[in-house]
Amino acid sequence: MLPTSKDELVYLLGLKDSQSRNELIQKAYQQKVNTLGNTVYLRGLIEFSNICYKDCYYCGIRKSNIKVNRYLMTIDEILNSAKWAFDKGYGSIVLQCGERKDKNFINFIESILNSISIQTSNEFRVTLSCGEQTKETYKRWFDAGAARYLLRIESSNKRIYESLHPQNHSYNNRVACLNFLKEIGYQVGTGIMIGLPNQMLEDLASDIIFFNSIEADMIGMGPYIPHSDTPIFPAEIQIVRNKIELYNLSLKMIALTRITIPKINIAAATAFQALYPFGREQAILSGANVFMPNISEAKYRNNYRLYENKPCVGENTFECFECVENRIKGIGESIAYFENGDSRLFYERVNKSISS
Ligand code: 5AD
Ligand code: FES
Repeated sequence: MLPTSKDELVYLLGLKDSQSRNELIQKAYQQKVNTLGNTVYLRGLIEFSNICYKDCYYCGIRKSNIKVNRYLMTIDEILNSAKWAFDKGYGSIVLQCGERKDKNFINFIESILNSISIQTSNEFRVTLSCGEQTKETYKRWFDAGAARYLLRIESSNKRIYESLHPQNHSYNNRVACLNFLKEIGYQVGTGIMIGLPNQMLEDLASDIIFFNSIEADMIGMGPYIPHSDTPIFPAEIQIVRNKIELYNLSLKMIALTRITIPKINIAAATAFQALYPFGREQAILSGANVFMPNISEAKYRNNYRLYENKPCVGENTFECFECVENRIKGIGESIAYFENGDSRLFYERVNKSISS
């Protein structure tokens, strides 16, 4: 049972005056502190390839964008980045890429996972974010050491999903993939973009209900930021009219997700910082508890622009490390070094099933 009804969610998402919005955000932050403490978990983000066979209308690295220089980091580069994060006490990494389903790629990921498992102890959590795959592929990667998987639903409204993707991208398959991941035993992350064309407050409320109904362990969501080399641009029917509205609405989504599902992990997505310099910190202060510093090799970052204005593309891994420390300290939170940061939700679900 959700503590918050859909009508209530719609009403709270629609709060316009800054005082009631701030009250909501403070309540959500209090919920985070009471449930999960004053700490933030880190996941080192390695965007290891921008080669993508899909053509999502919103995404800067879609296959039809011929302006993108395509790359695949080498196994050594990926392993070095993973090792760096492990040694620094990040506790966890995310391997993210464009979507490929070919055998070479599947084997490539599997061998990376095997090598990371050998190099690190069981306490290091590897998350994959490599799109839709078959159940067999998900299982192979799980067996090779991946413990978590991120696959955003983008919008739980099928009509909106379809308007954002070509016809051969299937909403039903996306949902099926989330179910496969659950069945296999992954900690599953999903999420959406906020401020999409034709997306209404009711849709966003339904997204939070969707997160709860599929028993997601982790959420990654952020504002939709148009990319000029993609086919979609803000449509006429949009709930947000400007950057400030989009930013505030996105923070309210974080806050309401925290209030509705207190034990879930919520990432402070980089897209928040694309809107405002302290956007990611503000996301933490609205209830998020996960920060994902970019640890990709600096020379590749410029080619992984999913949206315009993407921050941290000019920095290297060490600069990001120092910057993140200061950002977290600056808001009175501390980093949970050497902790894998499994979501409380997942932890309790697994322990319940073991003891019952
Ligand atoms: N604006 C914001 N987020 C985007 N993503 C892709 N393109 C954009 C954009 N233009 C998000 C999607 C995807 C994740 C990796 O990045 O939600 O799942
Ligand atoms: Fe690559 Fe959508 S454009 S997965």
